[in-house]
Amino acid sequence: MIGVFDSGHGGLTVLRQLIARLPQEYFVYFGDHAHAPYGRREPEEIYRLTLEAVERLFQHGCRLVLLACNTASAVALRRMQQDWLSQNAPNHRVLGVFVPMVEALTATSWRDGLPLPGRVAEDGLVAVFATQRTVLSGAYPLEISLRAPQLRVVAQACPQLVAAIEGQEPQTRLKSMVTGYVAEMLAKTGGAVPGAAVLGCTHYPLVAEHFAEALPETTRLMDQPGIVAASLADYLERHPRFAATPGSLSGARFLTSGDPQTVSAFASRFFGAEVAFHSAKELDRI
Ligand code: DGL
Repeated sequence: MIGVFDSGHGGLTVLRQLIARLPQEYFVYFGDHAHAPYGRREPEEIYRLTLEAVERLFQHGCRLVLLACNTASAVALRRMQQDWLSQNAPNHRVLGVFVPMVEALTATSWRDGLPLPGRVAEDGLVAVFATQRTVLSGAYPLEISLRAPQLRVVAQACPQLVAAIEGQEPQTRLKSMVTGYVAEMLAKTGGAVPGAAVLGCTHYPLVAEHFAEALPETTRLMDQPGIVAASLADYLERHPRFAATPGSLSGARFLTSGDPQTVSAFASRFFGAEVAFHSAKELDRI
């Protein structure tokens, strides 16, 4: 079983691609809807909530957990791997969505610094749209500059966007918010047009069409869920002990810390199919 975690619905955009790419695996999705959004919380709180979620998924039998949340990946992942994992669960692993994106942008392997095929932005400018906390963490510009110093990054926080998406605000409202954030980003570049744009929050694929419309035509939108799915497939090939064995259960189970009915009613927009969420308390009883 592979755990997939997000503060709310956003990780479903990733899970959808994971299932398409790895149909033989069994995924347990946990959305911490009771505490979403994370993007405006303090780092210490994000760390604590993320750790609790990971422990829960480990206790349920997941030995590998993917943080399908940029905010948790940028704020909590490195600290969790360094301070907690090796002492508390040395045979388990936690991965994030942040590393595969940086690898794809810089065409450089995170593990050994070797070049990867298919650089997206040769040099020039990359725009990163993300939650306030991800932007404040500075993680994207820092990690990109370490691997591809020739790339410049313009980071744009979209502080209201996750709450508006989770709150099912009308498309016209979402579109005008996105248009505003894109205009703010462009005002910072001194007229330069980004070659690529990262939607560095797993909620944003839901408003990708508004970003595509608002961004200059030559700016390429990166597909984070697809990139993450390809990266997990590669990881499982290299670490087969975390992969499904022939004949084992496949599919997905959906858990939330929020109200399962409310969460399920809205989930199909993110997942592309009907989804039945269950209370995470059930998971604790198993
Ligand atoms: N979907 C999450 C991300 O990728 C964060 C959303 C939030 O809780 O603010 O950053």
